[in-house]
Amino acid sequence: MRATGKNGRKLKMDKTILTGVKPTGAPHIGNYIGAIRPALALAATHKKSYLFIADYHALNAVRDPVALKRDSYQVAACWLALGLDPDKTVFYRQSDIPEVFELMNLLCAVTPKGLMDRAHSYKAAMDKNREEGRSDPDHGVNMGLYTYPLLMAADILVAQTDIVPVGKDQVQHLEFTRDMAAYFNNAFSPVFKLPEYQLEKAAGDLLPGLDGRKMSKSYDNHIPVFMDSKARRKLVMKIITDSKLPAEPKDADSSVIFRLYRHFAGNNEVAAMRDAFEKGGMGYGDAKQKLFEALELTFDKPTQIYNDYMAKPQLIDELLATGADKARKVARETLSQAREAVGLKRLC
Ligand code: TRP
Repeated sequence: MRATGKNGRKLKMDKTILTGVKPTGAPHIGNYIGAIRPALALAATHKKSYLFIADYHALNAVRDPVALKRDSYQVAACWLALGLDPDKTVFYRQSDIPEVFELMNLLCAVTPKGLMDRAHSYKAAMDKNREEGRSDPDHGVNMGLYTYPLLMAADILVAQTDIVPVGKDQVQHLEFTRDMAAYFNNAFSPVFKLPEYQLEKAAGDLLPGLDGRKMSKSYDNHIPVFMDSKARRKLVMKIITDSKLPAEPKDADSSVIFRLYRHFAGNNEVAAMRDAFEKGGMGYGDAKQKLFEALELTFDKPTQIYNDYMAKPQLIDELLATGADKARKVARETLSQAREAVGLKRLC
């Protein structure tokens, strides 16, 4: 939703947006369309936005310090390359905000254990153990996984967030966050805003992969966002098609090429490809070339920016440190209020 003022200027909505991203390696174009682009658009249309790297959340599953560090730089470079403006969006590492961890402790005091027992990801881990015939249902479950929703609630509540864009898999976390905020507010005094979630379509529902199944790294059918032109072209040429000849009419909506193209080309270009397909005026080779060109236009420049940032990680460190300073101002205020509400001292 975008409001326009009298003089045609875009008015920004007076709400706070917050998103956390786990550093889990380089994104593919489905992640871009399904999560990154909508989050950037939301940040651009709202007055306050926060985006942070959820490195503590990643730590539950990572045992390689070099990889954690590298992946954190990668995810930072990725968002910067794709258009995040660190002057407008507060951009930081979760691990740089100690207030989040103290707030998590305060939330522990008002959150029933049963809430964590009902968390989907914890239940999934127990189900897997049962299926694999283990006698201990908690095998491999660390406390970080068990308390994941508490840390996520602290991330969100510490910034007095109004809206969190999420995929379907994160909806329960947002419901829990609202529950925890309400437990606290009712037990003490109304310190926390209750955040809303905005549901984004999963990348796999939007974009097919090279083989027509949903695009996913686990199917190895994905097109990475950042790659050099030659490699990008090679991948696009690998897209699976049927054996219709150029002159034969084709159903655009069942073609992987078209279903990708429509997200990256302009309306007129998309209409032209649909028309050419349906009338039998375009071969798959030509269509692939067009798709490649559209991807190139979208991602070639960001790839260069990404590579520049990755070559200068100290620049990323500086940007994130500035973001952390800004985030901590708000976090300290929220935490002070929460401490006071329960009968502890405000932070000095
Ligand atoms: N749990 C989120 C994910 O797996 C990452 C995350 C951590 C997050 N804290 C958050 C997302 C706060 C939104 C808000 O993708």
